[in-house]
Amino acid sequence: MKEPIIYFENYLLRPVQIEDANDMYEYGSDLETVKFLSWGPYMDVTEAHGSIKQFFLKRPQRGLPIGYAIVDLKLNKMIGTIDFHTIISDGVAEIGFCLNKAYWKKGIMTKALHQILQVGFYYHGFKKIVIGHANQNTGSKRVIEKNKFIFDYVDNEKYYNRFTGQNEPSSWYYLTREDFIKNEF
Ligand SMILES: CC(C)(COP(=O)(O)OP(=O)(O)OC[C@H]1O[C@@H](n2cnc3c(N)ncnc32)[C@H](O)[C@@H]1OP(=O)(O)O)[C@@H](O)C(=O)NCCC(=O)NCCS
Repeated sequence: MKEPIIYFENYLLRPVQIEDANDMYEYGSDLETVKFLSWGPYMDVTEAHGSIKQFFLKRPQRGLPIGYAIVDLKLNKMIGTIDFHTIISDGVAEIGFCLNKAYWKKGIMTKALHQILQVGFYYHGFKKIVIGHANQNTGSKRVIEKNKFIFDYVDNEKYYNRFTGQNEPSSWYYLTREDFIKNEF
């Protein structure tokens, strides 16, 4: 059985595909968007193409879940990604996300994360999902908190800021399947 395709409001969550390269380049070439990420800014659309081919499309081969694209249904435009990019240990996955700046602060990632947590816990059967953010990344912090992740610890070494050349503090959270289900009702 394939991972589900999900509709919420005017948006669609479906697997990332090679045709998303232009849209991924649009937000991946923006410095503010990639400020806290480990990749980008893309200088050319071929980099987005390469990252889709090399990372997203190879996920199943590597035993990882597919990466989801967030699509604006009105414009049929890919506006971001959300995915379980790392399996940390048996039943424990780490999730990450990125959204086109034109769509920030509309509640989209908070809702997308809720949908993908359902996929993680109910479809993949993960027992725990973890997530982290650079302490300065207020938007990411809020999305995580609004999805009722439990704060775990601050790490001063794990996050390397490529732009300052420093290790900077990042905060780490987890959510168990039991707590997710409890929060649902
Ligand atoms: C972080 C990110 C995913 C947030 O997505 P979003 O769809 O704008 O988030 P939401 O609209 O669901 O916002 C949730 C809350 O965070 C707040 N928020 C979002 N971005 C914010 C920002 N840059 N600064 C301060 N608050 C912010 C919203 O106002 C909202 O707050 P409220 O509900 O208390 O009013 C988006 O800014 C992004 O893609 N950033 C670049 C990539 C990135 O940093 N990814 C995370 C790596 S850990």
